[in-house]
Amino acid sequence: MSADASTKDEFMKPTIICLMITSPDGSLHPSRWTKSPDGSRADWSALYEKVHATHGGDGWMVGRVTMAEISKAQAHPPAEPGKVSRSTHFANRQAKSFAIALDRSGRLHFNSGELYGDHVVVLLGRDVPDQHLAELAGDGVSYIVSETDEMDIGAMLEILNAELGIKQILLEGGAGVNGSLLAAGLVDELSLVIAPALEARKNSDRVVEFGEEGLAGRVELSLIACEPLDHGAVHLRYKVMKP
Ligand SMILES: NC(=O)c1ccc[n+]([C@@H]2O[C@H](COP(=O)([O-])OP(=O)(O)OC[C@H]3O[C@@H](n4cnc5c(N)ncnc54)[C@H](OP(=O)(O)O)[C@@H]3O)[C@@H](O)[C@H]2O)c1
Repeated sequence: MSADASTKDEFMKPTIICLMITSPDGSLHPSRWTKSPDGSRADWSALYEKVHATHGGDGWMVGRVTMAEISKAQAHPPAEPGKVSRSTHFANRQAKSFAIALDRSGRLHFNSGELYGDHVVVLLGRDVPDQHLAELAGDGVSYIVSETDEMDIGAMLEILNAELGIKQILLEGGAGVNGSLLAAGLVDELSLVIAPALEARKNSDRVVEFGEEGLAGRVELSLIACEPLDHGAVHLRYKVMKP
């Protein structure tokens, strides 16, 4: 391998697999679904976790809204106010698995640098205030601040690989972050657990959303595998390609 090729490999973005559990009508809210004769509603999160484990990888990533539902911490003064690094801060390079969030404006807060045993890394917009960076660093959270006005998620993913050795990430919603990463051509695979249930409420959250224009002309899906799961669910895997 030439020196050029090895340098390129080192900075490749991680493989991104978008993993979601949904009903055939695209709903993301199992608590609102119809019951299935093959299984109760309570089975769906366990089934999702089982499929999550089969994919493996180095971590999971969610949007700001979804992460705010997981980390319910409130804004608090930094433990150690003072000078902060404005580009990157890595609090734990030895972690085995990572919980990654996209947070353009610095609206997420954490009580520690770990969630479910995974080390927290936040991808932030360029204008996020020093005070917020100091708060994250004080809580043991790692972060990358965008170098461009519009966050270049592809470049930030390459940094995650280069600095933390992250080679594969499960992208786990919600619709907004799934849509924006698909539109940017950053998603390699769509992995869907489809439960035999319906929500059918008007204007409910769904698997993917990308503004008024949608994703037509931006991506194509090619079936990789279709496998029956417990309780009448199926697991569909699609390779995501550029048209
Ligand atoms: N059933 C499931 O499997 C599942 C999984 C995940 C989530 N959910 C549900 O989905 C809902 C949340 O979904 P959502 O679509 O509203 O929110 P989301 O995808 O969790 O977060 C969207 C936010 O992430 C940030 N973001 C997204 N793309 C970005 C980009 N390219 N660059 C910079 N920032 C970006 C933006 O934050 P700013 O607004 O701060 O700029 C955006 O508003 C929740 O109800 C949650 O429970 C369900």
